[in-house]
Amino acid sequence: MRIVGLMLIAATVLFALSGEAVFEKKCASCHSEYYIPQSKLVVNYQHNNRELNLTAPTVTELSFRIKDQVGDRTLDAEGQKFEIEDWLTQFLKNPKTFKSILPKNVRKTYGQMPPVKVTEEETEALADFLYEYAEKMMVAHGVKRYSYDEALKIARKQKKIILVEGYLPFCRGCIWMDRNVMVEPEVKAILNKDFVLVRKNLLIEKLPLGMKRLGTPSFYFIAPDGERIIDMVEGTGTKEEFLSLLASIKERVHR
Ligand code: HEC
Repeated sequence: MRIVGLMLIAATVLFALSGEAVFEKKCASCHSEYYIPQSKLVVNYQHNNRELNLTAPTVTELSFRIKDQVGDRTLDAEGQKFEIEDWLTQFLKNPKTFKSILPKNVRKTYGQMPPVKVTEEETEALADFLYEYAEKMMVAHGVKRYSYDEALKIARKQKKIILVEGYLPFCRGCIWMDRNVMVEPEVKAILNKDFVLVRKNLLIEKLPLGMKRLGTPSFYFIAPDGERIIDMVEGTGTKEEFLSLLASIKERVHR
């Protein structure tokens, strides 16, 4: 009996549809780009799509917009995925009648998406794929995050500043920072050189050194010795603002 059970599990894993494969087959002919840094996209939209000549929004754009606007962001992942699946079922039948989740300037860059035929199973796999993609993109293109203990060791050895990022899974400003600032090449270069990063979900995790949690997103800078708090900052900012914050922290670390 146990063997049969195991084989059944193996079969479901094998035959579960891959959302990425469905996307490749049914969507990627138009949505051909997966990730383009946001700064390049902004320029492209300002120039009426002449730089990149895209046929449809990138997967990153879809994933972030869907996570932010479809269903209830404050539900757990499975709950929101169900809502996204329902939404996709209706949307793919008749995209035209839907209120767009894209900002106006992005929407007007493209023509109208035609209906696409998908099965129920394919829709479920697509919902999963689109929900997960934003996070995967962040891991693939962002700066590496460490546990606090690992970060402390690296900071002491390499004289780096510890940056603890406080976030909540459904915090809009956090998603905005992740997408617009934390993955930008200039920001990444400085973070990689002088900082070591730790991410803390403030709903369930405590901050080090007994620091009080601020609203989200928030950024807690700790000197390389791991003992002195340099600054605690709350809120979102543009890439330029964040770069100047990092520069001012670097100046203050040796004081
Ligand atoms: C023939 C080209 C084409 C195909 C195939 C296609 N799309 Fe699109 N899609 C577009 C275009 C163009 C837009 C932007 C205009 C719009 O929003 O309707 C878009 C927009 C979208 C949006 C945002 C809609 C909004 O405005 O709120 C979603 C979500 C989306 N596509 C999902 C999918 C999925 C999932 C598939 C595959 C099952 C798919 N698309 C297949 C061309 C396509």
